[in-house]
Amino acid sequence: MNRKGNRLSLILALSAGAAIWAWRRSQRTLQTPLSAPVESAASARRRLERAAPLLRLPTSPEQPPEVLDDGSGLRCPVTGRVTPYRDGILALLETPPDKTFTQRALDTPFTAWAYDRFRETLTRAFNSPDFAVEVAEAQRVLQVHSGDVLLDVACGQGNFTVEWAKRAGEEGLVIGLDYSLAMLARARTHLVRWGLDNVLLIHGDAHALPFAGGVLRKVNCSGGFHQFPDLPQALREIARVSAPGAVLAASTFAEGPEDPHTRLKRWFKRAFELHFVPLVALGEQLAGLGYGQYTWSLPGGGWFGYASARKT
Ligand SMILES: C[S@@+](CC[C@H](N)C(=O)[O-])C[C@H]1O[C@@H](n2cnc3c(N)ncnc32)[C@H](O)[C@@H]1O
Repeated sequence: MNRKGNRLSLILALSAGAAIWAWRRSQRTLQTPLSAPVESAASARRRLERAAPLLRLPTSPEQPPEVLDDGSGLRCPVTGRVTPYRDGILALLETPPDKTFTQRALDTPFTAWAYDRFRETLTRAFNSPDFAVEVAEAQRVLQVHSGDVLLDVACGQGNFTVEWAKRAGEEGLVIGLDYSLAMLARARTHLVRWGLDNVLLIHGDAHALPFAGGVLRKVNCSGGFHQFPDLPQALREIARVSAPGAVLAASTFAEGPEDPHTRLKRWFKRAFELHFVPLVALGEQLAGLGYGQYTWSLPGGGWFGYASARKT
């Protein structure tokens, strides 16, 4: 074999080795939530009882669900149907609707592991702030303190959820909602590792939030808006469940006015169904839903944007 052939074989062998290593690691990491200590019935029940007054099942929009005595789920007071709560996740999306390319992409053990592992590298590539800075910025808006209740929409692998849960403390409650079971499984791993038991994870859809109207005062949505196929509907839902005075902190792939990357961003949207949310229009949509004090920024070259607003 000539020199070029040798080099190619070496590259192929190294790539295959790296892929196998990454795959095996992702599988091992994904086992953790399943091998994590099974939550006691008393603890599961406590957690569900804390959240139940806020929750509404699609079949009983007027009444809160009943908590099963053994903490294994919620019962609809109208139909008697049970929504299971297992492995720390409330299964509200038993038959999920169609997924977009990006939604599907983040719903496998491997991609969830890779996103979790390489999120920082990815954000750095887009010139976005470090995670600690993102948290500080969202915390400036949300002011999460002991005893608070917060909804983390599109919580994914739980990076922000963990931060809010630490701040909300034992008296507080954080609800992490996501479309991807693989991402929620990772969130569960992190929560177990941090010993946080003030979080309820929900396998649900941001377009149909399972909450009563006006019950939440703090909503975070980091990295979710660009994945929602119908962002106006998700915003309507966030506004519906938010109380007057409630705050919203969000980050998303975004587009600014006179954006230099518009053509590339439109291509991303066509190719990957990854929306770049126009931040000025987002403010107008939120104003139409009763939000004021809108702020936005598009730091570091203009790919990933940050927005906040308060419901009046
Ligand atoms: C890029 S990840 C963000 C995860 C995490 N919040 C972060 O900032 O790193 C986007 C998340 O949005 C979730 N997602 C997409 N569509 C959703 C929907 N309709 N309802 C709830 N979550 C959704 C995906 O499953 C994924 O976990």
